[in-house]
Amino acid sequence: MKLFIDTANIEEIRAINEWGVICGVTTNPSLIAKEGNVDFKTVIEEIASIVDGPISAEVISLEAEKMVEEAIELANIHPNIVIKVPMVPEGLKAVKQLSSKGINTNVTLVFSANQALLAARAGATYVSPFVGRMDDIGNTGMDIIADIAEIFDIHAIDTEIISASIRHPMHVTESAKAGAHIATVPYKVFEVMTKHPMTDKGIDAFLSDWEKRK
Ligand code: E4P
Repeated sequence: MKLFIDTANIEEIRAINEWGVICGVTTNPSLIAKEGNVDFKTVIEEIASIVDGPISAEVISLEAEKMVEEAIELANIHPNIVIKVPMVPEGLKAVKQLSSKGINTNVTLVFSANQALLAARAGATYVSPFVGRMDDIGNTGMDIIADIAEIFDIHAIDTEIISASIRHPMHVTESAKAGAHIATVPYKVFEVMTKHPMTDKGIDAFLSDWEKRK
């Protein structure tokens, strides 16, 4: 399973990119807004200059034709831009058109296997099921990842599954086991993923043994 970072914060992207573990970035309107009064195009350009991989940028319109217009503008920013489109019928229409123009898409706000199947059949490059938000309403988000992975496998669908709305490290492990191709992980979760008390204990023991050698 590949790892993307789920943020529009440039410092967070730079920091995790330096670890060498990410190969893409996902943003959404809320993540962009969290960065304050920034210019959307400038932020996307800067992200694309840091990470050499798919960068998801989301359209705001809810009508297919307008989504396509917005998408073309975003896609012109950099060849790595992937257009995030919400999982609604107008979104499917937009994905169909964008796919025929060779523009990569990420269908977002996916909460069921049928939504993922529709997105894939419309030509989506990626689908993003929201694991954490499903858990929030008492469903088991990971079951949807496993269902989509099974369906895509049985029917040889090459749309990639991005496990999104990741809230903690177990979501990452479980996404990998359930068959997600990618997990898009927030900065804080990356930090927690590095940690284990036995690692810290081991380092302390190595260093104190080394000191005793003198
Ligand atoms: C990424 O593609 C999604 O927009 C993001 O993971 C949603 O996460 P949230 O549910 O924590 O807002």
